[in-house]
Amino acid sequence: MAWVRLDGEALTLVFALEMGGAADCIYLGGRLPEGEDLGALAAAAARGRHESQPDAVPVPGLLPERKAGWSGTPTVRLVDLDNPLAGEVTTDFRVRQWDASERELWIDWQDERLGIAVNLWWRIRSGDVVRVTCDAVNLGKKSFSLVDQPALVLPIPRRFTGLTTYAGRWAGEMRETHRTLAPEGFAARSGTGKPGFGGGNWLMLDDPASGEVLAAHLAWSGDYSARIECDLQGQGDGRAVLQMALGGGAAGVSLNSGTDLDVAEAVFALAPDRSALGQAFHAHARAEVLPDRAAWTPRKVHLNSWEALGFNLSEPALIALAEDAASLGIERFVLDDGWFGGRRNDQTSLGDWFVSPDVFPNGLAPLIARVHELGMDFGLWVEPEMVSPESDLYRAHPDWCLHTPGRERPTMRGQLALDMARQEVRDYLFERLDTLLRTHAIAYLKWDHNRDLFPSAPRQTEGFYALLDRLRAAHPHVEIESCSSGGGRIDFGVLSRVHRVWPSDNNDAIERLRIIPAWSQFLPLEVLGSHVGPSPNPITGRRLAMDFRAKVAMFGHMGVEADPGRMTDKERETLAAHIALYKGWRGVLHSGQLHRLAHPDPNVAGMMVTHEGTALALVAQTAFSPVFDAAPMRLSGLEPQARYRVTLPQPWPPRAKHYLANPDGWRAGLTLSGTALMTQGLALPLTHPETAWLIALERLPQ
Ligand code: GLA
Repeated sequence: MAWVRLDGEALTLVFALEMGGAADCIYLGGRLPEGEDLGALAAAAARGRHESQPDAVPVPGLLPERKAGWSGTPTVRLVDLDNPLAGEVTTDFRVRQWDASERELWIDWQDERLGIAVNLWWRIRSGDVVRVTCDAVNLGKKSFSLVDQPALVLPIPRRFTGLTTYAGRWAGEMRETHRTLAPEGFAARSGTGKPGFGGGNWLMLDDPASGEVLAAHLAWSGDYSARIECDLQGQGDGRAVLQMALGGGAAGVSLNSGTDLDVAEAVFALAPDRSALGQAFHAHARAEVLPDRAAWTPRKVHLNSWEALGFNLSEPALIALAEDAASLGIERFVLDDGWFGGRRNDQTSLGDWFVSPDVFPNGLAPLIARVHELGMDFGLWVEPEMVSPESDLYRAHPDWCLHTPGRERPTMRGQLALDMARQEVRDYLFERLDTLLRTHAIAYLKWDHNRDLFPSAPRQTEGFYALLDRLRAAHPHVEIESCSSGGGRIDFGVLSRVHRVWPSDNNDAIERLRIIPAWSQFLPLEVLGSHVGPSPNPITGRRLAMDFRAKVAMFGHMGVEADPGRMTDKERETLAAHIALYKGWRGVLHSGQLHRLAHPDPNVAGMMVTHEGTALALVAQTAFSPVFDAAPMRLSGLEPQARYRVTLPQPWPPRAKHYLANPDGWRAGLTLSGTALMTQGLALPLTHPETAWLIALERLPQ
């Protein structure tokens, strides 16, 4: 038996490896001292055999399989295509070689009789995020089908007994559900051809005793399966095992002789608390996932036409909207759906990516020129992977959509999905998008995907990536947003190719106070589109004051998705003031460390970003407080001994400002230590529903 340790900044992983046998991760936790006796560590974790176990206790380890009596789902599930009725093949993978350095371990297993090799590669990367890839190769003569393509196998340390999952719905993404990890385990799948709203590609475990958290994510924009099995029968070593795989129940992937499957990748991170966990994922996304992140310019304030005009587009209406937008301080004008072909409603014309002469008799050029004159750049909505049956594209190529020959072609939102595995489909889409980008000054694409994929299409995601990669290579300066009816396709696979995601179609600020903190557990604020919507909100019907909507929208990549022409002067003034505040603070919000703030009232939400001695917090009350004076808001992430100048950036919330004890004092600002701010906090009027405050902090010289 050999032991290998990998060390990150604050993390150690220890593996037990047996040549010709199994491989396991026997320690996953805070960084161990130099010289820790790894043999003793293994001995301290080892257990004797109990009565009802197989005589040789199976070690599911990093490649669980059934051969020795482990009762869970094997990682590599093969069906012999010469004998498909025999069911899944029993595998016998054995470690053949490994290679380790300070931060990386590569293990090669082989089942010699089947001729299948599996390689696992664990790497500790920036933010101490661990990236794990798995690669299956058929070196033999037989052909197999592989049920779900494995990415991550993670034996869960026993201290993690809590589980948070993120299943939501359209307009209600990422709803956190916490439970005790039960013996029955957990399983989630996506079968919609994208991660969808089920959230199972994001999972978080916790140790209730210490608050330590461990979260894992599958970096893949297609179907997934995620499962935690707790070895109910106790035939293995008793630990729960988390497995994440590409797939989701579609007919397996073929692993024919000579096939080397694309590498599937997952990430996980461990941290002392949820804020630190978020910071680890953010650091990693900024350093290694987001395309060329270090070169990003400040995230421009958007105005998106969707909730302002919907399909009621015309050149004069859009120019008026653009003029209103510019007067508020907007920096990018995004023309959403309805600009192409015969697209006057959502039942038609997807695929016909030609500027509509009905809406734009003079083409897009005059609108773009006016947008530029007003000092903004121009963005455009597209939904490339889709086709409407009512379209020129469909009439010309009825076979280009996903379908089963001879069967009905059921639609969703009146549309079908194109078969992205076909080169001619990708070529057509590339030609259309490339032409649009070459012939117009378009700085940004909102790339949407509104239909689930049925019948299922296992190669669709590769086709999507191939088209996106080709377009990005041809137009490297165009920023792209991933939207899928809101947050239906958000993952580190797509995020390595885009600059922004659309977290939800729901712009209601109260809903956003839940949705943004949930996504920001994994994603930094600068990629999370965050728009001020209309009031009443078109999805929830709720009316909210502009002050509240605008403050909430500042924590993200801010935008406006409403018609300023329908706002009162006072609302426009309030909105413009917050857009100016966002511009002043986005450098902090988009590079700093995000902290989740806790408050005894469950209806008070709080988050805060610290960056080089400066910080901005948002605290918001959504309901009516049970007490007259809300408990003080305690801040986080400050240097205990440093002194900070604390101010409440104006405009203040109109009703709540009357309850400030000493407005003049607040106007001048207070000086308090980090310890005072983090221990006692600030007593703010947070008793009325829909009240939000901003808190600004500036560290003073010693
Ligand atoms: C989807 C998107 C919306 C909007 C509409 C346009 O629903 O999620 O933001 O772009 O399509 O049809």
